[in-house]
Formats: sequence, C-alpha cells, structure tokens
Amino acid sequence: MPNKILNVASICGSLRKGSYNRMVMNTLQGYAPEGMRIIEAPSFADFPLYNADIQNSAGFPAPVRALADVIRATDGVIFVSPEYNYSIPGGLKNAIDWVSRLPNQPFANKLIAIQSATGGALGGGRMQYDLRRCMIFLDALTMNKPEIFIGNCSQRIDEKTGQIKDEQTIGLIKQQLAAFAKFIAQPSGKI
Ligand SMILES: Cc1cc2nc3c(=O)[nH]c(=O)nc-3n(C[C@H](O)[C@H](O)[C@H](O)COP(=O)(O)O)c2cc1C
Repeated sequence: MPNKILNVASICGSLRKGSYNRMVMNTLQGYAPEGMRIIEAPSFADFPLYNADIQNSAGFPAPVRALADVIRATDGVIFVSPEYNYSIPGGLKNAIDWVSRLPNQPFANKLIAIQSATGGALGGGRMQYDLRRCMIFLDALTMNKPEIFIGNCSQRIDEKTGQIKDEQTIGLIKQQLAAFAKFIAQPSGKI
C-alpha cells in the first residue's frame, strides 16, 4: 500500500512582493521528502484588524474561515516568517489571533515547523520563540529541531529566480522537512 501523503500548509509572515521569506517558502516543495505536499495557505492580507465586535456582529470574515479550513485540513503547518521588532510580524500575529477564536480551534494538536529569513546577518530567533509561545497556548506541537534561520539572504538567494543558491541552506531545509515528516508521523519528539 502506498504511504500516506502528508499535506502541509505554508504560511508566509511577510506580505511584501520581494519577500525573502516568500522566496524560501516557494522553494520548499522542491526540497520536501517524498510524500510531503506543501501548499501555500490562503493569504491573511485581507484580514481586518482583530476586533471581537466584528466577530460578534458580522461573524468571522471569509478570508479568516478560508485560512482556518486549510489549517484544519492539513497534517502540519510551516511558518516562514521574518522577525519584526524582535517579535512576530503584526499581520501574522493578527491572523493567528483571528483564527484562534474560531470554534474547533484550527491549531489544536497541529504539528508546526518554523523557518525565518532575513536580509540582515542574524535575526528570526526572537520571532521564533514568540511564535512557539503562541503555539503552546493554542495546543499546537512545534518541532524543536532542526531550526532554520537564513541570514544574509541577498547572498544566499538569487533574487531574479527566487532560488536558493547556498548549498548549506538547502541542506538544512531538506533536513528540517525530512524531520518534519517524521515528527508528523510520530510527534512525541523521538525523531
Ligand atoms: C518593521 C520591521 C521590523 C524589523 N525588525 C527586525 C528585527 O527585530 N530583527 C531582524 O532580524 N530583522 C528585522 N527587520 C528586518 C527584516 O528581517 C528584513 O527586512 C526581512 O528581509 C523582512 O522579511 P521579508 O524579506 O520576507 O519581507 C525588520 C523589518 C521591518 C520592516
């Protein structure tokens, strides 16, 4: 019998067109192990700022429900996000806040992996810690290792093609995705 396909949704924390994180996210399928299908989750770009009054009067906006439905339907979620001011970009945090208020909370028991990319030399670690904390509250299970922090992106990514040109970075991404496949199969941490 063929192995089960692992469906993974990717969520990019940056909305800008030339985003390094988006470029990295777009390459992931090419580095995924056999049987892992990575599909970009519906965008949070059109989410209003979270306001319980909207939720209580008009209900959850359609783009919020669309993202939540995809998160619920997948085996795992990969966040690929920059760090803003030592934390989670506001747009991404707003998206998590919206989705977290839905019944049948979509992140509960969801398997999570995190990557971050930056044009600077370092960065992403504090965003990753804060995102891990949010995921704890939401009862998601975030994989510990391997961690992915891609610095100096202008040297590691060909901005014309969007391809990663640094073999070490590619190797780390492959390792993380392979570990994520095992983590999804056995989330006890024994990977
Ligand atoms: C509002 C803002 C705050 C930022 N704060 C940080 C930070 O705290 N740490 C860091 O490493 N980079 C920070 N940066 C730089 C981003 O990591 C860098 O611009 C990154 O390339 C953005 O991701 P993107 O290329 O996917 O859009 C910040 C950028 C912006 C726009």
